[in-house]
Amino acid sequence: MIEYLAETGSTNADLLERVRQGERVSEGNWLVADRQLAGKGRQGRTWFDGAGNFMGSTVVKVRESDPPPASLALVAGLAVYETVVAMVSEPGALALKWPNDLLLRGAKLAGILLEREGDAIVVGIGVNLGKAPDLPDRETIALSALGPAPDRNQFATSLARQLDTELDRWRTFGLPPMIRRWELAAHALGTELRVQPPGEDVLLGAFAGLDESGALQLRLPDGEVKVIHAGDVMLAREEG
Ligand code: BTN
Repeated sequence: MIEYLAETGSTNADLLERVRQGERVSEGNWLVADRQLAGKGRQGRTWFDGAGNFMGSTVVKVRESDPPPASLALVAGLAVYETVVAMVSEPGALALKWPNDLLLRGAKLAGILLEREGDAIVVGIGVNLGKAPDLPDRETIALSALGPAPDRNQFATSLARQLDTELDRWRTFGLPPMIRRWELAAHALGTELRVQPPGEDVLLGAFAGLDESGALQLRLPDGEVKVIHAGDVMLAREEG
């Protein structure tokens, strides 16, 4: 079921609150807003409130038999990738960037924010369908750069179905096939990345795939491969 709201602060905040209040929030249900007055991005950033864009959240209830919950970022990223790739004239211009951004022509098209409350993980997804924000520090793009923007409600229906499919695959076949598919949908191996792990110095290195837990592997200039479990990642060419 998809519940549409004309306006709210943040669909993630709304679902987290429902979970905290003990409301029954079932997997597969979505909250989608036309406008978000306090949209949240990763790392405490705000998320652009673009009318006509997709802004929605859903809940995944973690089960004991599930692969590690942190790998849901990859599952959600694949769901967004598969939804968008079926709609665009330049599928080769799409690339996932760790941990959970979707790039189009190297610019940010979509982002995902995971927030946990007990055994519930709220998965919030923002996709620039018609409008992209002007940001000082990163390039952004909307699907309308390639042609008419997809209808938001049709997009929501396709994404909800795709996330269901990816969750089934994750639970049935485990993490390794998801990691392989994620790597195939990502920018090329060797892509130069600039990584800011929390509280540490910026690292420059080359994309060396993901490890078996889904963490980012970065080949440093001295050849060492560093495993990154958290942080902000930019394509090095996005700098300056
Ligand atoms: C990112 O910084 O890349 C993550 C952006 C996540 C934005 C979405 S829009 C719907 C949901 N509600 C929010 O407040 N944030 C997420």
